[in-house]
Amino acid sequence: MDKKKVPFRKTVFVCVNTRPDGARVACGNPGRGGLELCEALKHAVKEKGLKGKVRVAKSGCLDLCEQGPNAFVYPGDEWYSGVTPQDTAAIVAKLAD
Ligand code: FES
Repeated sequence: MDKKKVPFRKTVFVCVNTRPDGARVACGNPGRGGLELCEALKHAVKEKGLKGKVRVAKSGCLDLCEQGPNAFVYPGDEWYSGVTPQDTAAIVAKLAD
């Protein structure tokens, strides 16, 4: 095992979990927007010149499904619920700090 420092200043975890059976809502289900949000954040991070410093990663269920799409920033204490691709600029602006 190699132990290294975390290679990114920040990581944004975005729930893209799906539940094809529709038994419960899921951020990544069609029409919920989780996957679109993840792609929009990746694009915005690249546009802002933060690629290599900020990582946007797909996440499994974050357990606040009904409030989704959900995302959070690590390290930090910011959690975002009900996020749309239109919110990406505000989120990415904070990542540049
Ligand atoms: S499916 Fe996204 S928080 Fe559960």
